[in-house]
Amino acid sequence: MKLLLTLATAHALSTPTRLPALAADKQLKTIFENNRRWVQEEVKKDKDYFNRMASGQSPQILWIGCSDSRVPANRIMGLDAGDVFVARNVANQVIGTDMSMMSVIQYAVNVLKVPHIVICGHYDCGGVKASMENVDHVPPLENWLRNIRDTYRLNRQELDRISDKDQRTRRLVELNTLEQAFAVFKTGVVQRRRVQTYGSDQEPYTQPRIHAVVFDPGAGSASELLRRRRRRDATSPRRRRRGRQRVYASRERAAAVPRRHRPTQVPASSKN
Ligand code: CO
Repeated sequence: MKLLLTLATAHALSTPTRLPALAADKQLKTIFENNRRWVQEEVKKDKDYFNRMASGQSPQILWIGCSDSRVPANRIMGLDAGDVFVARNVANQVIGTDMSMMSVIQYAVNVLKVPHIVICGHYDCGGVKASMENVDHVPPLENWLRNIRDTYRLNRQELDRISDKDQRTRRLVELNTLEQAFAVFKTGVVQRRRVQTYGSDQEPYTQPRIHAVVFDPGAGSASELLRRRRRRDATSPRRRRRGRQRVYASRERAAAVPRRHRPTQVPASSKN
């Protein structure tokens, strides 16, 4: 646990040490030396730092990202230990039967009551690239990639129009991220919390908000993927119909959600 905490907060080191490509020492001496240095630096800056850590966590963000080593959640956002609750897996998948991910979301939303969930995909994602290959990656990885292959199939028209392979891969990274943001939004845990907090006096806005973000390891930049908005007359029949289709938009509507609603818009940044 101590090691995990150390790695998660390595960004706090003013000059993080790179592990040699081939760590000769079996005990990974470097990381424990780094750990001691980090403890000293933090205590020097704030003598109560670890007392605060010992008193518990109240992170504001649940981060769902890829396991890729170039996408360190805290460091990208410039946040400290205790600020981000993190779940990572290959290609940032949110799958309803993944008890690990579902438990993370449940704990973050119901217990920690995080107001924000960031789902972060990244360009040059090995998982996304593998899903575009006509290759059997054998289970369990092949089963895992199945989900991304489905996202490709659902967006085949758009993707197949992109002739440049790199650009097509980048777009699938974005579409996969949006699809997973939708998957988070649709979980019962998130829907129930949003119904609870809709119009609540205790919360300034309906929570949690879902943010689909894409990170570029080659540039270090993170940007939010916004859903495409089309300007329409607010009173048009189509607009009103869409309003009715919005999932669990309010307590009153929650009881009247159509069984087979068509999820036409991705809640990249869910607004009330
Ligand atoms: Co990846």
